[in-house]
Amino acid sequence: MKPIRKAVFPVAGMGTRFLPATKAMPKEMLPIVDKPLIQYAVEEAVAAGIVELVFVTGRNKRAIEDHFDSAPELEAGLAAMHKTALLEAVRNVIPPHVTCIYTRQPAPLGLGHAVLCAAPIVGDEPFAVLLADDLIDADTPATGQLIDAARRHDGSVLAIQNVPRDQTGKYGIVSGRRIDARTARLQGIVEKPLPADAPSTLAVVGRYILEPRIFDLLRATQAGVGGEIQLTDAIASLLQERNVYGYQYEGVRYDCGSKAGFFAATMDLGRKYHGLGIPDEEPMALADDD
Ligand code: UTP
Repeated sequence: MKPIRKAVFPVAGMGTRFLPATKAMPKEMLPIVDKPLIQYAVEEAVAAGIVELVFVTGRNKRAIEDHFDSAPELEAGLAAMHKTALLEAVRNVIPPHVTCIYTRQPAPLGLGHAVLCAAPIVGDEPFAVLLADDLIDADTPATGQLIDAARRHDGSVLAIQNVPRDQTGKYGIVSGRRIDARTARLQGIVEKPLPADAPSTLAVVGRYILEPRIFDLLRATQAGVGGEIQLTDAIASLLQERNVYGYQYEGVRYDCGSKAGFFAATMDLGRKYHGLGIPDEEPMALADDD
């Protein structure tokens, strides 16, 4: 398999579950403690060796472009105030060897369509896709784990996670045969099946390593569930002709596209990385009234 150097970040969804916060900015700019979701995903990709970041943006693209651009006035201000740590945090948003490219999805026609918008930039190479609203806290970055699996097995790889059966309607659900402790060779994938129809409880989460053949298949994919062009449907075609694997990554995933997941990520990462927490209530330091 050719080296995996490029990652696609679809950030053109409507983010309706976070309105009105997402009225004027993409949900991927919502912060968990002090970093926007998209920066967690970018750091994960860069840690996995990705050197070209392709953002598929929608109508509110400015905030993301500005975030990953240099900010000379801000940097000069922080330098003048000797705020070295903050200056480094602002400067190091993207390491110098990494390139950002922005392309536009003209209308939110679905995740599959967003990925297809990146085809002219990705070209004929395998690539990663990261959905920033799935934040994965892991010792080895989840994208790195998937890239290793793709190299080992020479095929496309999707991150999968076991979910309660009553939640299958929120995910792409796979079927397949296990080939080692964490990996299955996939035989089928369906988008958002009812619990009774789901072929398993193994759900696809927002990390993919895909062969470029997916672009041809996406071009031929009609609108599916929800009237959107679904990446899942093109993957269903891909696994008819190539090896596609599901990989049960090590790490904790937070569905930050939902309020509950976003809240849990804020609490857990705040405690784990920032020493934040809600202190126990102090007893009232007053004598009893008697
Ligand atoms: P979601 O299914 O979470 O949809 O998209 P959404 O529009 O972002 O959010 P809600 O459901 O309205 O709250 C999953 C991922 O696919 C991207 C989103 O930005 C998100 O990263 N996406 C989705 C696109 O880039 N374009 C689309 O047309 C649809």
